[in-house]
Amino acid sequence: MNIASRVDGASCQDTDRYQIVRARMTGLAAGLSAEDLGAQSMADASPGKWHLAHTSWFFEVMLLARRPGYQPVDERLGRLFNSYYEALGARVVRPNRGLMTRPSLDEVLAYRREIDRRMIAFLGEGLEDPQERYLFDLGLNHDQQHQELFLTDLLHLMSCSPLEPAAYGAEPGGPDAAGADRGWTDFDGGLVSIGHDGAGFAFDNEGPAHPVMLAPFRIARSLVTNGDWLAFMADGGYRRPELWLSDGWAAVQAHGWTAPDYWRGEGNDWRVFTLAGPQAIDPHAPVRHVSFYEADAFARWSGKRLPTEFEWEHAMKQGTLDNAFDQVWQWTGSAYLPYPGFRATEGTAAEYNGKFMANQMVARGASWATAPGHSRATYRNFFYPHQRWQFMGLRLAEDAP
Ligand code: AVJ
Ligand code: FE
Repeated sequence: MNIASRVDGASCQDTDRYQIVRARMTGLAAGLSAEDLGAQSMADASPGKWHLAHTSWFFEVMLLARRPGYQPVDERLGRLFNSYYEALGARVVRPNRGLMTRPSLDEVLAYRREIDRRMIAFLGEGLEDPQERYLFDLGLNHDQQHQELFLTDLLHLMSCSPLEPAAYGAEPGGPDAAGADRGWTDFDGGLVSIGHDGAGFAFDNEGPAHPVMLAPFRIARSLVTNGDWLAFMADGGYRRPELWLSDGWAAVQAHGWTAPDYWRGEGNDWRVFTLAGPQAIDPHAPVRHVSFYEADAFARWSGKRLPTEFEWEHAMKQGTLDNAFDQVWQWTGSAYLPYPGFRATEGTAAEYNGKFMANQMVARGASWATAPGHSRATYRNFFYPHQRWQFMGLRLAEDAP
C-alpha cells in the first residue's frame, strides 16, 4: 500500500472540509458592518466579531499549539477570546465581550486568515493520531455551533434597534409545517439503545450508548405551530399560573412574557421580528423562540407533555419525526445530565460539555440556522430553561392511552 498517497489523500480531504466549514461564518458576516459585528446586546450573546475570533483561537489552542515550539499569532488574544476554559487562564468575562473595540474587525479578520493559513499547513503535514483527528473534528463542529450562535446573537442585537433592520434579504428556511400531517406515532417502548455508538464524530456528551427503558408512548410527528400558540395565548396561557412550573411562572412575571420572543403587537395583530426584518406571523410555521418554561406550560395546557430526550431519539431513529432538523430545535423534558459511564474528552477539551451538566435542559434536532450536516439523532443541545433567544420550538408527546 502506498502510505504517502493515502496520507496525502486524507489531508487534502481535511483541507477541503476545513475550508468549507470556515467559509460559512465569514459568509454570514460579509454583508454586515463593523458596528453590527462589534456590539453585544445582552450577557448571553456575543458580538459577531468575537465569534469570528473565538472559533479561530479554538483551532490555535486545541491543535496548532500541540506542536513543540509553537509561537502564537499574538499571545494576548487568549485573554480576549478564551470563552470559558479555566485551564487556559484568565479572560474577559462574557458580559464584557462587547467592550472589546480592539482588536478591530479588520485585525480579527486578519487573525482568522493567519489561523487558516497555519491550519492548512498543519493539515498538509497530516494529523498525527486519533486524538488529533478528534480535536480537528471538534474544531470544525465547534465552528459550526458558533455559526448558529452568530445568527441567534445577531437576531437579538437587531431586535434592539428601533429601525427594525433586516440583517439579510431573506431567512433561509426549510419547508414550513404546512405540509406536515400533525398526526401521532405510537411506540411500544421497552429497552432501547440511546446515545452515539462510536461510528463517526460525536461530542463526548452523546455517549456512551446505553440501554434506556421506555414506557409505551406517543409522539407528535409535527412541530407545534404559531397557530397552536395563538390559541394558547387566546386561552389565557400566559395569565394562568396553574399551567406553569413555579420557576416558569416567576419568569413570566419577571420578564413580562405575553408571547414568544420577538413577537410584536397585540390582539390578533402580531408580527414577528426575524433576520429578514419584521414579518407577518405564519400560523402554519413552527413556533420559535420559546423557553423551556413556555414549552412546558403549552404542553400542560394541551393535556400532553414534552417528550423525554430518549423518546425523541428513539422515534427519530425509527424515522417517524417530520421537520426534525430543518426548522427549530425541540425542547425535551429531560435535564442535561451525563449518560452512565460518561467520560469527558481528554485534555483541555474536557471543559467543552461536561462541566455544564447542571440546571440546563436538553433540546434535540436542529434548526434552519444549524450548519448543514452538523446535527444527528444523538445530538444533545442544552440551554437554561428560561432562555429563548435560540431557534427553539417543541413537539408534544404523551403516555400511551
Ligand atoms: C451547546 C450551544 C450550549 O453555546 O456554549 C460553543 C456550544 N460550546 N462553544 C454553547 C459551544 C463551546 C454551546 N451550546
Ligand atoms: Fe465556543
